[in-house]
Amino acid sequence: MALLEIQGVTRRFADFTAVDNVSLQIEAGEFFTLLGPSGCGKTTLLRMIAGFDLPDSGRVLLEGEDLADRPPEARPVRTVFQSYALFPHMTVEGNVAFPLQMAHTPATVISAKIADALEDVRLSGFGKRYPHELSGGQKQRVAIARALVTRPTVLLLDEPLAALDAKLREDMQLELINLQKEVGITFVYVTHDQTEALALSHRIAVMNKGHVEQLDEPSRIYGFPRTRFVAGFIGHCNLLTGPVSANAGGIVSIDVAGLGPVRVAATTAIAAGRSGIVALRPEKIRIEAAAPAGTPDNHYRGTVSDLLYMGDVTVYIVDTPGGQKIEALLANSATGRAKFFEVGDTVEMSWPVASGHFIEE
Ligand SMILES: Nc1ncnc2c1ncn2[C@@H]1O[C@H](COP(=O)(O)OP(=O)(O)O)[C@@H](O)[C@H]1O
Ligand SMILES: [Mg+2]
Repeated sequence: MALLEIQGVTRRFADFTAVDNVSLQIEAGEFFTLLGPSGCGKTTLLRMIAGFDLPDSGRVLLEGEDLADRPPEARPVRTVFQSYALFPHMTVEGNVAFPLQMAHTPATVISAKIADALEDVRLSGFGKRYPHELSGGQKQRVAIARALVTRPTVLLLDEPLAALDAKLREDMQLELINLQKEVGITFVYVTHDQTEALALSHRIAVMNKGHVEQLDEPSRIYGFPRTRFVAGFIGHCNLLTGPVSANAGGIVSIDVAGLGPVRVAATTAIAAGRSGIVALRPEKIRIEAAAPAGTPDNHYRGTVSDLLYMGDVTVYIVDTPGGQKIEALLANSATGRAKFFEVGDTVEMSWPVASGHFIEE
């Protein structure tokens, strides 16, 4: 049995459906992420797990028990918000002690529990400080300690790192991974940041317009997006679209305007004439000055129209004579690199059938 089960949950605001018949199961000990653009219903779904809001239809079950009649404080679920929501007039200890006092925890054990929680988030020795004496990252760690101190069964985190700058966010991501491993509590994490979701999660539910488009492990979400939306939302992706011109021997050919036939490995019965997409990550494309050796499955010539030097990699936008734009990415450390391409250079792009991923439309 899953620890947390969302069964056909729908939530409407007037005639707008914010969460649309979502079903998913979260296992004990999982780091589970709801990922999607702003407004897709992530916070609304989290609020229904916490009990701050109730579904119009569907059920939320924890360890098999329907939570409908349990108010937030009676659920073994705590939430960490982007805004920290610390009490400014209380010390770190006071903040962390607060939920214990609310639960009438005996005073004799409170200080040991505070010490444990502060150790979990590596803030031992900060107990006497006030929130205004802490950095953003430290404040968020206090908020996490406060949420963990009652040892909830599930910890909900709603964009907890969104207010931090990029470098600190990366440090905190590593800390969250380690913290979740250490405490073993199930995390349900909300973010609109796909790299964060890929880095942190055991599994990701990609949401769009109130529903779940794909639920999978990070590597499958990235490598095998099930829909156009998921392919476009997760990282950069060329979405080469057109009618299927052939389908035989596990290889589908698609006629892409401005490019010609694109071949991709796929096990599908899709018939000629139907529309399909080849999702192709920029890093899967070979880009060279001279024509590639042999006869690659896919080979096109183009001209570099733009480039973005990013230090470790360079992104090239290549225009084909037919007017298709392809994004290709090359590691600047690649062996045998003689020189960077420049805008205006003619280049040869190639990739094997296995590098693309076929999506039926
Ligand atoms: N209390 C509410 N009343 C009306 N509309 C709401 C309310 N809460 C959320 N919404 C709407 O529901 C949609 C989903 O919101 P939300 O769950 O906050 O999205 P996310 O967290 O993914 O950005 C948004 O369009 C939002 O405006
Ligand atoms: Mg939100």
